[in-house]
Amino acid sequence: MDNAATTKITENVLKAMLPYLRENYGNASAIYSLGQKSRAAIENSRIKIAENLKVKPSEIYFTSSGSESDNWVIKETLNPREKNHIISSKIEHPAILNSLKSVERFGNETSLISVDEEGFVNLDELSEKIKDNTKLISIMFANNEIGTIEPISEISKIAREKNILFHTDAVQAMGNVKFNLKDIDVDMLSISGHKLGAPKGIGILYIKEGVEISPFINGGEQERGMRASTENIASIVGIAKAIEDAYANMDENINYTSDLRDYTIEKLLNIDGIIFNGPIDNRLPGNINITLKDTKPQTMVQYLDMYDICVSSGSACAAGSINPSHVLRAIGRSEEDSLSTLRLSINHNNTKEECDYVVEKISEGMKKFKNR
Ligand SMILES: Cc1ncc(COP(=O)(O)O)c(C=O)c1O
Repeated sequence: MDNAATTKITENVLKAMLPYLRENYGNASAIYSLGQKSRAAIENSRIKIAENLKVKPSEIYFTSSGSESDNWVIKETLNPREKNHIISSKIEHPAILNSLKSVERFGNETSLISVDEEGFVNLDELSEKIKDNTKLISIMFANNEIGTIEPISEISKIAREKNILFHTDAVQAMGNVKFNLKDIDVDMLSISGHKLGAPKGIGILYIKEGVEISPFINGGEQERGMRASTENIASIVGIAKAIEDAYANMDENINYTSDLRDYTIEKLLNIDGIIFNGPIDNRLPGNINITLKDTKPQTMVQYLDMYDICVSSGSACAAGSINPSHVLRAIGRSEEDSLSTLRLSINHNNTKEECDYVVEKISEGMKKFKNR
């Protein structure tokens, strides 16, 4: 029940990867045939991903993670000789928010636009915040905590009119929202493998042809000199397979998961003391975010864990910290309520029986731990 934190590698992905972990272990820069098999695997993967996203293979860059892709965009699109202005939102992932803090140290300025009570960014505020030196707009495609799917096409139009670069963090959207980059016009887009059945430690940054961005890791000529380091071939093959499968089964998976989500939400809302967070429409198919009135979410997470149920208190990346969720604060929840949230993120591998079991255990836990 915590697929937004990470997913299990699928059998298809594992099968595609294994030859590159065993016999085909060559360095893709080597000119002998073992190396060239690796080179071919990388370039075929790039072609496969580009076909699904409807972009050119040369616009796909492999990175180590969603966080790396986000850091690359924020840190390397700015002009070091100018004071740049960047617009983002209050509900971004820490990979964006902390990168913004990092570039602020060098004299750049950032504006974080607010969201409404369902987590949708305020488009009027976005337009109003644009200045002559606004270089980049970075707004996430879908929120990892409350599942809000942002109006990416509208944001893109605003950016286009003003000739400003537009990046979107699509780490949670990939595989969960049907899109391609012919229909929506973005300059850069971040993806992470482990959210969609590929391994941890592999990501993608789509960079539209013509966008000026500096290399992120200096070194050899890998990724056309933009991101050095010997390629992680097995994981590149893995993420390509995961994306291929996600696109092949997209409608079926989205329909199944969102029906299961709505069924589970309805049952959860019958429990006394549960408040629902996030939007009703335009929500990630697997996202359920609830506030447990007068119950510590950590206690509930531990209780559910005794029954082998994995859920997240707030977002996984913020777990371990006891700060209230910045996303829930941004949608107007009180500090106390923002500390008491639980995120369930189901996917097409979950069943109705599992959801019934989870609802039953949450209901039990609410009675046991109220005010404790
Ligand atoms: C919206 C969003 N962006 C970025 C990331 C970071 O991705 P990665 O774990 O691949 O670094 C996450 C991970 O939770 C996320 O949900």
